[in-house]
Formats: sequence, structure tokens, C-alpha cells
Amino acid sequence: MRVLVIGGAGYIGSHVALEMMEAGHEIVVYDNLSSGTKQNLFEGERFVEGDILDYERLRGTLAEGYDGVVHLAAFKAAGESMLAPEKYARNNLSGTINIINAMSETGIQRIVFSSSAAVYGEPAYVPVDEAHPTAPENFYGFTKLEIERILAWYDRLKGIRYSALRYFNAAGYDVRGRVRGLERNPANLLPVIMEVAAGMRPELRVFGNDYPTNDGTGVRDYVHVNDLAAAHVAALERMVRTDESLVVNLGSEAGLSVLEILEAARRLTGRAIPATMEGRRPGDPARLVASSTLAAEKLGWKAKFSDVDTLVSSSWGVYER
Ligand code: WQD
Repeated sequence: MRVLVIGGAGYIGSHVALEMMEAGHEIVVYDNLSSGTKQNLFEGERFVEGDILDYERLRGTLAEGYDGVVHLAAFKAAGESMLAPEKYARNNLSGTINIINAMSETGIQRIVFSSSAAVYGEPAYVPVDEAHPTAPENFYGFTKLEIERILAWYDRLKGIRYSALRYFNAAGYDVRGRVRGLERNPANLLPVIMEVAAGMRPELRVFGNDYPTNDGTGVRDYVHVNDLAAAHVAALERMVRTDESLVVNLGSEAGLSVLEILEAARRLTGRAIPATMEGRRPGDPARLVASSTLAAEKLGWKAKFSDVDTLVSSSWGVYER
């Protein structure tokens, strides 16, 4: 298949583009390089530098003809979205509507959309399955849910099929070491720990150690980017086979605490990784873990690389200095 990977020079997009090529698909990457980097472009891909807010360029690119689009060109810092909703509205909402409208205009029928566990908000129960109520606690999660709803309308009105993949906590780097581009100013736990280990920042601030969890720190479902990437391929191929849309969680179903990851990082890097205990970060749930039963059923998908050692060591392979 011929696939346009929008955001394909980014952290997750670069892994998706690689996996799509491995599966034999022809890849064009469309990226404005705002978070992505040319370092994440690979031999065999064609690169179009473009912004999703540039409707004419986007439509012109899509008019070249594609069997499917994968859209990973979103801002993803939940905290920032509460301070700068305009930025998220413009890119994550308007930009995505541009993609969907340009697909409709050019007759492209399939999209894999990066959604998020942030659509659920504070979990009412865990593991969280797709039937869990959606009540985003931050504007970022709202943008993801809103796009899912628009996609459902375009499915009905325009026959565009979509797979909304609700990622839990994406982490790790390509287990074969092909992706080398570091995220700029990361806020997520594992890249922050890696930056401390590599001497790029002084310490890890642990946000809360009084949660009702095994060791008092927050528990999350970390899913390796290679596992996420495999799910994108499976989702696109399934849409061709079944002509059906899908909304599905992608998680490992395992919960890891902040301290469990920190201890694994100290052990695997051999670095001290200083950490200080701080108060809870507003809006953080104690425990967020996925049920991925539906992904197994619909996509034949299961996380393979999402154990703590693989998450940490694949990241350290990129950060070590
Ligand atoms: C993980 C755990 C923190 C940093 C966010 C978004 C969510 C999704 C994934 C995209 C928590 C703790 C973190 C640090 C810490 N994004 N932590 N010190 O908040 O679960 O989810 O990323 O879809 O929408 O909200 O991820 O990596 O920020 O935090 O103690 O410096 O690590 O409190 O328990 P989070 P995270």
C-alpha cells in the first residue's frame, strides 16, 4: 500500500514509518519538523516538508493518491494544553480537520489516528476498557476525543474508515537502534530519567509518593513504541480487509510505578540518577492501566517489547553518553 505518514519524522511517527516499510508498504512522510527531525527520516522514504495547517500543500500531497493516511502530527503535552489551549485547538483540531477534509476531497478512504488514554480522564475503574466513560481532564485529551467524534461522522457521511488508537504511555526506542532522534524538552517520565542518567539534567522530580499504590508513586501502562508501530500496520491492513472503523486501546496491561522504572534505570544504566520526592502533579491519577482485550481480538495485537527492561534499555541505547 501507499501510505502517507503525517508526523512521520517525530518520535512515534518515525517508528511507525519504519514498521510500515518493513511490512512492504511505500511510505511518504509529511512533517513540518516542529517536533520531528530529519535525523528520523530513513532510506526508502520520500519526505515532504509541510504543515497540516497549510491546506493547499496538504491537499496537493494527498491528491498524489494514497491507500491510507497515518496521522501523528499532534502536540501531546497535556499540561501545556491547559495553559495554551489555542495552540492545541489550532494544530490538533483545525489541522486534523484539514487532513480529514483533504482526504474527503481527494477520495482517500482510510486513516489511522493517534488517540490517547487521555480521552478517559480520571479512571472510574482499572483496567480501563473502551466502554469506560470518556471525560478528558485536560484540553489535549478533549482534542483527541473531539477528533474521534468527527471521524465517526465522516465514516457515516463520507465512507472514510478510521482506526483511533488510544495509546497509553508511549515509551522506549526502536529495539534495533534505528531511531536516534531525541525529543526536545521532554516532560514524560522515561525520557526525563534518561536525561538525568546522561547528565543532561540534574535530577528526577518524583511527583507524589503518597498515592494508594504499591510504593506510593503513580502507576502507568507503558507501551513500547515498536509495539505501537506494529498496531498501526495491523489497523491499516484490517481496514482494507473489513472496511470497518475501530476505536481501540493500546496498552501493555501491566502497571509500572515511577520507582519501579527509576530502579530499573539505575540498574541498567549503572548511573546514580538522583531523585527528589515532590508533591503530586495536579490532574495525575494514581493508577492508569489498559485493558487491551479488544486490540488482541480485532488486530491480533499484543505488546511484546513493553517490559520494563526493554523500555529502559532501548531508550538508554539512544541517550547514553
Ligand atoms: C508518568 C508518571 C507522573 C515526569 C502523559 C499525558 C497523556 C499521554 C501520556 C499523550 C506519572 C510521573 C513524570 C516527572 C514524575 N500523552 N512523573 N516526574 O502524565 O501519565 O501521561 O503522557 O497521549 O495524555 O498526560 O505521563 O510520563 O508525564 O508521567 O514523577 O518528571 O511519571 O507523575 O505518575 P502521564 P508522564
